[in-house]
Amino acid sequence: MSDYTTNNVGIPVESDEHSLTVGADGPILLQDHYLIEKMAQFNRERVPERVVHAKGSGAYGFFEVTNDVSQFTKADLFQPGRRTEMLARFSTVAGEQGSPDTWRDPRGFALKFYTDHGNYDMVGNNTPVFFVRDTIKFQDFIRSQKRHIGSGLRDNDMQWDFWTLSPESAHQVTWLMGDRGLPSSYRHMNGYSSHTYMWINAAGEKFWVKYHFKTDQGIGFLTQEDADRLAGEDADLHRRDLWEAIEGGDHPSWTLRVQIMPFDDAPDYRFNPFDLTKVWPHGDYPLIDVGRMTLNRNPEDFFIHIEQAAFEPSNLVPGIAPSPDKMLLGRLFSYPDTHRHRIGPNYAQLPPNRPHVQPASYAKDGPMRYVTPNVARPYAPNSYGGPAADPRRFPPVGWSVEDSEMVRHAYTLRRDDDDWGQAGTMVREVLDDAARDRLVNNISGHLLGGVSTPVLERAVQYWRNVDKTLGDRVAAKVSGG
Ligand code: NDP
Ligand code: HEM
Repeated sequence: MSDYTTNNVGIPVESDEHSLTVGADGPILLQDHYLIEKMAQFNRERVPERVVHAKGSGAYGFFEVTNDVSQFTKADLFQPGRRTEMLARFSTVAGEQGSPDTWRDPRGFALKFYTDHGNYDMVGNNTPVFFVRDTIKFQDFIRSQKRHIGSGLRDNDMQWDFWTLSPESAHQVTWLMGDRGLPSSYRHMNGYSSHTYMWINAAGEKFWVKYHFKTDQGIGFLTQEDADRLAGEDADLHRRDLWEAIEGGDHPSWTLRVQIMPFDDAPDYRFNPFDLTKVWPHGDYPLIDVGRMTLNRNPEDFFIHIEQAAFEPSNLVPGIAPSPDKMLLGRLFSYPDTHRHRIGPNYAQLPPNRPHVQPASYAKDGPMRYVTPNVARPYAPNSYGGPAADPRRFPPVGWSVEDSEMVRHAYTLRRDDDDWGQAGTMVREVLDDAARDRLVNNISGHLLGGVSTPVLERAVQYWRNVDKTLGDRVAAKVSGG
């Protein structure tokens, strides 16, 4: 590299300090193309922030298999002895780029594995469930959590209005208002696939699977008071924590365990196993060890590697497939679509998104393309040695769908399906007294932040539906008791 400043194409520049003028006090000249390049480049430095999960942080690492699960999946990265390079990005959901890391929110847990069959993305959260169960409600849900049309402010009334009119949100809102809605750092939280996926083994047998990445650092949480204070003291607390831990050689890790459901259990399971507002109780499907992911390398350029990282639930590799979860099926479309808008149609060529195997894709051209397609002629079939799909090695997989009318309808209810039950189990059987006290305080504190009377009344009933005692305690708090 030269020891003098150049413009973007390597031409030496005349000054770092003075624009070209007619005399020292005169007007600036249009022919100062370096000045124009600087201004124009600066004006285009930002790409749009992610429409959700805008504030985040990430690092590179690797995933190692520690247990043989090849009886359940043939996926390359889960075979015994494998070690796979990967990228992780953690995030808050509703806040913008500069928002504090310690706002109460679910946290994103997005992973990209550079496997021998291309990129596998596991785009999860730090919670095993979600607020809604149908893709068609996601946009409404997010708008209720973001800013008010008029005031431009976050608005607790909108949040509780949506939640109390959407009872399927109760399980996730219980999570959110509990301790795990404020993790002490990205290192001290679990990650979950939340969705059910399909695994397929080498013999073609199918299984349903849920992923649990358990933090090896231990769970940590912040109280509401600490989080509020820290939001002012260091808005980037969790970004800083992850960066500094890795810089200091303290490499965080997570143990991957999975729940496996035999394919034929699904039709008769007591909960709909594809409903994203439900977990599979561990007593029904215990956790099985798979391996460990470790993050050991900070990005050398945050914008290139983290801001331009493009995770997509549709990046599934042989041995892993979707399930009939109506949220997951919507997400398969949404992410590549938003990437084309946010960072351009050739986003797969950017460093964090490039597979570590060479693609043999027929895609060509488009803005910012710089990698030549690895095919002699840009169409298939061709007689010039172009690649051909191999359905014998990579057969399509799926599930059968009954011959049925087209409808717009909620999932058919199973015998233990309702919107309140699993949330109530968490309150009564998982939380201890101190955690229940914090839950009551967090809920009532949030409700006292500008929620209107009719919504407040619905909210009290919502919590009574989850657990009568909890609802009564919230009622007493919000009415000044
Ligand atoms: P278990 O007793 O086997 O599991 C309870 C789970 O709750 C553990 O995974 C534990 O995570 C997690 N947990 C502990 N404290 C909290 C908290 N404050 N907020 C959220 N999760 C917490 O019970 P079941 O599997 O029968 O499930 C009972 C209830 O537990 C469910 O209705 C659900 O609400 C909740 N849960 C269930 C999970 C599942 O996949 N089955 C996963 C997470 C929660 P850890 O091991 O890290 O302590
Ligand atoms: C980010 C859509 C549900 C986890 C995003 C983005 C969109 C989106 C458009 C921005 C992506 C980008 O610009 O890079 C949706 C839709 C959903 C949905 C339509 C429901 C139908 C979920 C669920 C989870 C989840 C259920 C977790 C289980 C994430 C994560 C990110 C993200 C972790 C950030 C990825 C990153 O770090 O770059 N989502 N989402 N989303 N979503 Fe979703």
